[in-house]
Amino acid sequence: MSNRLLDIFLGLCYYAVGCFWASIVVPVVTVYTLLGGKQRVNKFFTKGDHSKLPEVASCVKVNHDFIQTESGNKFHYVHLGEKDKPLMIILHGFPDCWYTWRHMMKQYSDRYYVVLFEMRGYGDSCKPEGINKYHMDYLVNDVAEIIEALGYPRATLVAHDWGGAIAWEVPKYFPHLVDKVVIMNAPVFSALVKCLSQNPIQFLKSWYIFLFQIPWIPELLIKSNDYGVLKDTQKNLTSEEVNVFKHCVGRNITYPINYYRGIFTKTGICLQKCKQVTQPLLLIWGDKDTALDKILVPYCKEHATNMKVCMVEGATHWVMQDEPDIVYNEMDKFLNI
Ligand SMILES: *[C@@H]1O[C@H](CO)[C@@H](O)[C@H](O)[C@H]1NC(C)=O
Ligand SMILES: *[C@@H]1O[C@H](CO)[C@@H](O)[C@H](O)[C@H]1NC(C)=O
Repeated sequence: MSNRLLDIFLGLCYYAVGCFWASIVVPVVTVYTLLGGKQRVNKFFTKGDHSKLPEVASCVKVNHDFIQTESGNKFHYVHLGEKDKPLMIILHGFPDCWYTWRHMMKQYSDRYYVVLFEMRGYGDSCKPEGINKYHMDYLVNDVAEIIEALGYPRATLVAHDWGGAIAWEVPKYFPHLVDKVVIMNAPVFSALVKCLSQNPIQFLKSWYIFLFQIPWIPELLIKSNDYGVLKDTQKNLTSEEVNVFKHCVGRNITYPINYYRGIFTKTGICLQKCKQVTQPLLLIWGDKDTALDKILVPYCKEHATNMKVCMVEGATHWVMQDEPDIVYNEMDKFLNI
């Protein structure tokens, strides 16, 4: 079979699995909502106005700016530290925003110029139309263009979740732009695919990736109850803090979901790619991650020649929130600071 046909075939398979999951999730949510009577039905359709950044975030002492990249895309970014320090770029995940990273930005701002940009589709950054504009190649290219637009020869990457998947690829595409890489709870994408085909546990844990392949229904579910799921993704957020996420992630949730849909599209840019990451890479993994099982770690090993793994016991997907001291300590050792 030609590659093109194989891609189409695989795309259809994933779509079919997505439909399968929808056929379970939608009836369950419907019955649950109806059983709760009028109150729960009303709650399902609740909407809020999240056009304004809540005070709890606007008063955080970080600097906000915009930057335009060579491709003409505009990104909102927050930064802390002096520009004469080496560059550290933080790549956030799904569904996440800069607010999560305020402590880490402060932690490293005396030794780095720390930059976190809202990725395409999020918050105040550009939101290109078309699912294929969320293909990995574009996401990787954004990072490279931002390093260049900031006027730095290279950067250290710190990344989580989707940001981590991107951080795995940046040094493969642009080895000259990357110093060191710290990745939290995120696999190399091709390792995830391989693991999905071999490991039923990870396959079941990835059910939402398939659900996201189909249109409308994921949006409807995430938007229900005024983005109720965003409250459940992280522990210990006040309702005002949850609203920060609604502001940054939920401006139009279709774009962040398109990251998952873009996986199976064709890229519009042509990038050369190395097989392995040769830069020093620290992989930190909370072993209680319910979406990305630690079984993925061995699958990642063949993708890096110089990798150190730190398994954090008892920590969830949000390892940097659960165990900040362990994470900082490991990072300090790894970064030699
Ligand atoms: C969100 O973006 C999608 C894709 O461009 C668009 O079709 C949809 O109408 C937008 N939704 C809202 C509420 O603006
Ligand atoms: C969440 O709050 C509880 C109670 O206030 C506290 O014991 C716990 O350490 C907090 N967890 C995190 C991750 O901040």
